[in-house]
Amino acid sequence: MLAKSLTVCCLLALIVSPTLAELGWWRTAQFYQIYPRSFKDSDGDGVGDLNGVTQQLAYLKEIGVTATWLSPIFTSPMADFGYDVANFYEIDPLFGTMEDFDNLLTRAKQLDIKIILDFVPNHSSDECEWFIRSAAGEAEYKDFYVWHTGKVVNGIRQPPTNWISVFRGSQWTWHEGRQAYYLHQFHAKQPDLNYRNPQVVEAMKDVLRFWLRKGVYGFRIDAVPHVFEVAADSTGNWPDEPRNEYVTDPEDYSYLDHIYTTNQPETIDLVYQFREVIDDIDAELGGDDRVLLSEAYAPLDVLMQYYGNSTHNGSQIPFNFELISNININSDAYHYSELIHNWLDNMPSDKAANWVLGNHDQSRIGSRLGADRIDAINMLLLTLPGISVTYQGEEIGMTDVFISWEDTVDPQACQSNEQEFERLTRDPVRTPFQWSDESQAGFTDANTTWLPLADDFKLVNVKRERGIALSHLNIYKQLRALRDEVTLKQGDIQVNALGPNVLALKRSLAGQASYITVLNINDDVEAVNLDSVFTQLSSQLRYVVVNDKSVRRKNDLTFANSVLLMPKEAIVLSTV
Ligand code: NOJ
Ligand code: MG
Repeated sequence: MLAKSLTVCCLLALIVSPTLAELGWWRTAQFYQIYPRSFKDSDGDGVGDLNGVTQQLAYLKEIGVTATWLSPIFTSPMADFGYDVANFYEIDPLFGTMEDFDNLLTRAKQLDIKIILDFVPNHSSDECEWFIRSAAGEAEYKDFYVWHTGKVVNGIRQPPTNWISVFRGSQWTWHEGRQAYYLHQFHAKQPDLNYRNPQVVEAMKDVLRFWLRKGVYGFRIDAVPHVFEVAADSTGNWPDEPRNEYVTDPEDYSYLDHIYTTNQPETIDLVYQFREVIDDIDAELGGDDRVLLSEAYAPLDVLMQYYGNSTHNGSQIPFNFELISNININSDAYHYSELIHNWLDNMPSDKAANWVLGNHDQSRIGSRLGADRIDAINMLLLTLPGISVTYQGEEIGMTDVFISWEDTVDPQACQSNEQEFERLTRDPVRTPFQWSDESQAGFTDANTTWLPLADDFKLVNVKRERGIALSHLNIYKQLRALRDEVTLKQGDIQVNALGPNVLALKRSLAGQASYITVLNINDDVEAVNLDSVFTQLSSQLRYVVVNDKSVRRKNDLTFANSVLLMPKEAIVLSTV
């Protein structure tokens, strides 16, 4: 009887606790964002390309990347450096050919790295054939974009609403050919597709199907909150957006509160529809799960809906920008802890958490939070439960590069002025990747690069950091190795601030060693008692990872009730 019930228990356990692979490879994956223009140039034109990425895939393997998402590689006039897609089915010649892309997929498969593409549903380029045909009024494409003839006030023609574009100025641009305004939430060269037209939705789903059938493992979906505007009223008009009184510049995006142009309820359903496409292709092709990563700077309750509900699957990875958006150089450990809890405590229980600490739109970690916090932040990123997302260069500690107004190319900055561009420009985080101390940091053979190279490349580069025991790169690699531990993959999480200066996380799993990440984010020497916040620690703990601020070494022991931390010391300990 006992034997029988044991067997039943074991069988049940097998049924109820699926292996990690069955749960989905992505649940504990390390994602890495490649900005292809700046990763590696293979053909000497000073701009990175697909063959460059293929050449360097072994590096991604070296740092343990599971999947990489590539910023757009499609045909584009590059008004927003590829986020203005002219043909959703073609590779831009600047990046290479379809054959180059196929080679990239083949090489990635050999190395067991999954390729994820950027999907830009909100808009196309104004040079996209769909837009040209829409502007010409062709029946099939007439309503592919959002058009309006405008209002006439005192005999003067005006845009239909006061809506302001993310890149400054009106969201409406007059089109002479069509004799109407078209809507663009971003640049005038990025007209918004009309998601109230079912044919647009279908056309964009076809784009997803095409690339999935080619062998990509999913998409990062761009600018999700912007996809829908409020529905027009019965007269075909839209309401103006209210003012944010604290902003005085009427051209600035933050001048208005975007209640009618962002986070409309229809957006959630669209994400579910995109997921359906993904699930259908999973059923059609089999193999590993395909995934959606969604880019939305949106309220937490909206983000949680992206995950899905009781009847619909959603985006497996709604980017968690809590830390990237809210932590600054002065934040204390309580604030870090609160933001981490925000996600963990609000996430549906069967979903995976994700942590994004950098991307091509945001100031780099070392510049935003301080160069001496780079390792601490990477420790946080890689020991929190679930999915980590690293932006290229953060693993070696690249920092923002000053680029003068004359050299600035980012449209978000170029549409402003010499006084304000530094607040808006994203060029400083998009500079060429620093591979070595050789000419042009080993990025290109060209004499010039599309954006200036960082001055510090002789010190901050992959080649040099490989040879320094406690370089950012080697610490990153040690953390990645640690992620193979079952506790890091499946363990519970507890997050606590020990005063304003020290943040600690504990990962634990029954029958396994626990891991405790302890970060002194400030400049005082601290002595902390980990027993005061965590239970079931062994009285002694072992150092597993240290940074270069630490006076301790790997495998040293410390008492859990008095861990001494140097200024900005960041460590991972384990129970013994
Ligand atoms: C978000 C992208 O990350 C950004 O780089 C781009 O400018 C906008 N979406 C518009 O596509
Ligand atoms: Mg090139």
